[in-house]
Amino acid sequence: MCGIVGYVGHRSALDVVVAGLQRLEYRGYDSAGVALAIPGEQQLHSVKRAGKLANLIDALADEPLPEAHTAIGHTRWATHGPPTNRNAHPHQSGRVAVVHNGIIENFATLRASLEAAGRELVSETDTEVVAHLLDLELEKTPDLADAVRAVCRCLEGAFTLVIADSTNPDVVVGARRNSPLVVGRGHGENFLGSDVAAFVEFTREAIELGQDQVVTITADDIVVTDFDGNPAEVSPYHIDWDIAAAEKGGYEWFMLKEIAEQPHAVADTLLGRHAANGQLQLDEMRLSDDELRDVDQIVIIACGTSFYAGMVAKYAIEHWTRIPCEVELASEFRYRDPILTRSTLVVSISQSGETMDTLMAIRYAREQRARVLSICNTNGATIPRESDAVIYTHAGPEIAVASTKGFLAQIVACYLLGLYLAQVKGIKFRDEISRILADVGAVPNAIQRVLDDADHIRKLARELAQHRSFLFIGRHVGFPVALEGALKLKELAYLHAEGFAGGELKHGPIAVVEDGTPVFAIVPSTSYAALRDKVISNIQEVRARGAQTVVLVEEGDDSALPFADHVIRLPKVPTLLQPLVATVPLQIFACELASQLGYDVDQPRNLAKSVTVE
Ligand code: F6R
Repeated sequence: MCGIVGYVGHRSALDVVVAGLQRLEYRGYDSAGVALAIPGEQQLHSVKRAGKLANLIDALADEPLPEAHTAIGHTRWATHGPPTNRNAHPHQSGRVAVVHNGIIENFATLRASLEAAGRELVSETDTEVVAHLLDLELEKTPDLADAVRAVCRCLEGAFTLVIADSTNPDVVVGARRNSPLVVGRGHGENFLGSDVAAFVEFTREAIELGQDQVVTITADDIVVTDFDGNPAEVSPYHIDWDIAAAEKGGYEWFMLKEIAEQPHAVADTLLGRHAANGQLQLDEMRLSDDELRDVDQIVIIACGTSFYAGMVAKYAIEHWTRIPCEVELASEFRYRDPILTRSTLVVSISQSGETMDTLMAIRYAREQRARVLSICNTNGATIPRESDAVIYTHAGPEIAVASTKGFLAQIVACYLLGLYLAQVKGIKFRDEISRILADVGAVPNAIQRVLDDADHIRKLARELAQHRSFLFIGRHVGFPVALEGALKLKELAYLHAEGFAGGELKHGPIAVVEDGTPVFAIVPSTSYAALRDKVISNIQEVRARGAQTVVLVEEGDDSALPFADHVIRLPKVPTLLQPLVATVPLQIFACELASQLGYDVDQPRNLAKSVTVE
């Protein structure tokens, strides 16, 4: 997601901020910008450019900015509006310039009231709304931090804000809610950053801000308050990373970082979808409720991990909507003469939004007059641009080639779609939808528990690292989880790994089980006891043939333990949500095993992040 840097001090502020933005490049972004404040000048100097940081650096070289000691900078991962110069941050209004990470959920209402009051907004972003609100607030109070606090109290959603002010050129103010902001403490200089990578080159002394706090930095002082202006407790800490590690936020691999970000990926994908009246709202949905009511068939098309997300989604969508739902590999779809009508909803799932197989499949579907809705993690990518409707996942940029947080966010987005269809078709009551959404809302904590308790999974990966063949079994939503577990291991560790539906074992695959073959089994949750018992039988079948079983089973369910050589406990969640927790240990396992074998986890051989050939 977006990178943020703020600086006040004795160095060239522009150099510090640009260096910080370079360090934050790993977060992924599609435009960048800076703003400088200079004493005695009643205006800020700002430059912003779409595309890579190099474009901004070139622009700064062409038209150098004056020397300054206060600056803010931003790399933007587009959410509201495409990545253009106009939508790039900072956004200015009057004396202030604002950079922002996150999503202001009530921005549409705020924007409407600003426009009604005669304000002209020049970008499509939610951030510009904040700049205007601050400008209005500063008419009432001259103090920037007071104005920031007042504005923050009106904002809903997740945000980190960092603000420069031409009237107070020695000050930068930051604020945060549900989005990170850290302070770097220097001597005669202080820093703000979306993470410490922004300033670790200059100082290793940091302060983590708490939820709903506002910080004011000058060269010599740091003042932190809550949103009401009460002084806040802060927790200083020493950063013990080197610069190389800081680019990955301290993780050895981007993939590890992305695995760790999954609670946020799920939470952010849910953000802003559930109105106070219980109504589900999908704001990028450009298909009318009438068009959706006509849908009598759903075809999900995707590739690789995204295809497995579609397989998971099928169970939920059919269960909630009673609309028949097929899942098809995008690369196969248009070669089989599929039956599509105007009332077919084709749902494409693509993290990158650029996968050629998927793109060709949606083009074909639209030629056949089907409506296409895309689930995508990349704002403005080709697939969402060519679709009739889009649901963006807000997982943040995925840099490691193997998809992790993208997968979980895709499942959540598909579930939102299923519930939305159930809502518009009147199949589910609002309170039923609210209950399901509350269960999904509890998933980030459940994932966090899996992450916090992952040492034994890593230990198991090291123990099993000498095996050359791994099998994964699951049933119902556990089946695609098994496929995904196997794919991760293939991609990262170059091992033979296969996923099967548990019931299919006896129809052939069980023949490959040898003495000691590791077989991972995903045991369905206790709420689906009949199916759970079937998987337990499958576990016994492979164990009787010498397999060493690794059993992923819900906390409190001991029924499979007598047949488990290794146990991985999963938090208790409803059956349809189990993939969101059960996939995580398999990602960690594959990542650790590949590291153990000495492979490049982030860039596995032969693979690319965005597959733009058919
Ligand atoms: C596996 C993986 C790939 C992608 C597939 C589709 O870890 O990342 O299988 O899922 O190439 O990519 P997107 O979702 O970008 O269309």
